[in-house]
Amino acid sequence: MLVNIGQLLTLRSDRVKAGPRRAADLKELGIIKDGALLSQGGRIVSAGTTKDARRDPWLRKNRAKVMEIDCAGKVVIPGFVDSHTHPVFVGPRLVDFEKRTEGASYEEIAASGGGIRSSLEAVRKAPKSALAAKVLAALNEMAAHGTTTAEAKSGYGLTVDSELKSLEAIRDAASLWPGTVVPTLLGAHVIPAEFQGRSQKYVDAVCKEMIPQAARRKLAQFVDVFCDRGAFTPQETEQIFASAESHGLSVRAHMGQLSQTTLEPFLRFNPASFDHMDHVSDSDIAQLAQHDTIATLVPGANYFLGLEEYPDARHLIDAGVPVALATDYNPGTSPTVSMPMAMSLACTHMKMSPAEALAAATINGAHALRLAGRKGSVEPGKDADFAIFAVKDYREIPYFFGADHCSMTVLNGVIAGGE
Ligand code: NIG
Ligand code: FE
Repeated sequence: MLVNIGQLLTLRSDRVKAGPRRAADLKELGIIKDGALLSQGGRIVSAGTTKDARRDPWLRKNRAKVMEIDCAGKVVIPGFVDSHTHPVFVGPRLVDFEKRTEGASYEEIAASGGGIRSSLEAVRKAPKSALAAKVLAALNEMAAHGTTTAEAKSGYGLTVDSELKSLEAIRDAASLWPGTVVPTLLGAHVIPAEFQGRSQKYVDAVCKEMIPQAARRKLAQFVDVFCDRGAFTPQETEQIFASAESHGLSVRAHMGQLSQTTLEPFLRFNPASFDHMDHVSDSDIAQLAQHDTIATLVPGANYFLGLEEYPDARHLIDAGVPVALATDYNPGTSPTVSMPMAMSLACTHMKMSPAEALAAATINGAHALRLAGRKGSVEPGKDADFAIFAVKDYREIPYFFGADHCSMTVLNGVIAGGE
């Protein structure tokens, strides 16, 4: 039981409509002052005030059995749901990083031998155990920043064997981490060099080998595609989505990062999320406002690439599109595991309010992974996933950027960190 919580952000509200949070509902944080939170066996039992918890007859009787944590006025939030990460890589891309400081763009660096393709060789060569150790280290670092659920993509092997090896590494790391991991097959990240000029052959390998094997072996819940200039075309993306659907996997995609793609034709596949969304048309925004597909914004990528423009979060939110925030943790565009940093960028560069950023980083992230029944808010019956921040007001989380004020994380009832 956590007591003396200065602000307990439950995100629970009777005022909000069912489904992903849109428009004004994104600001409803359900804050309880001087809160208390009881969980048992990895599930939340109750959330209320410390005063009421002290009066509860069951708690009075069983006080000796309950482990009590005094939060001394700190803030407790639902654990972050980081719904977009690429943790299966071996090394950082320091040459790309340095070249960008000299003025080269992401696409120029990719065209001259850097970029995603330059991360492939090391992943292909690495033993599975080495990849699993990398993933586990990233997951632990995420937990230290308040994340309790993370999506994890393959996508730096791009052969049938190395994509399956990457998914196995995710599975092995997840089995050693107390939080929740959602695995995604991103075999369609780019066309690897050996398939240059024969993209259909590579798409066939994704559709006829990677997807069927990942589905049969239950190694992935989602299939992702990088649909953009220099990666996969809308036609190829449709083929890959159709294969995923026929093998019982749900879909999501990187959309509109470098250039605009018309999204409406993909909605028949009921994608869980379209991610990045820097370039999106008004008519697609109107369509998305009528669907449950989440627009997942990853401002860490814009920051790290040194872009002046960020996704137009205000337009998306005000139009009624459900928006989530994620880190996009990866070696090329966003080497951060910090959801507080993503929230800070959302506030400073996308004009989201701290409340909107918090809900986008928790409950709407859970919707983006189709886990909102279990994750993303502090409600009785949901998983005991929360993060304690050593601040007095939740707005300090995005305000004090670049510092880690998470003092404890509870993942499925298991405490990590601690004071
Ligand atoms: O989300 N855009 C595609 N994938 C990653 C970047 C991957 C990389 O550069 O290694 C992203 O930004
Ligand atoms: Fe990504």
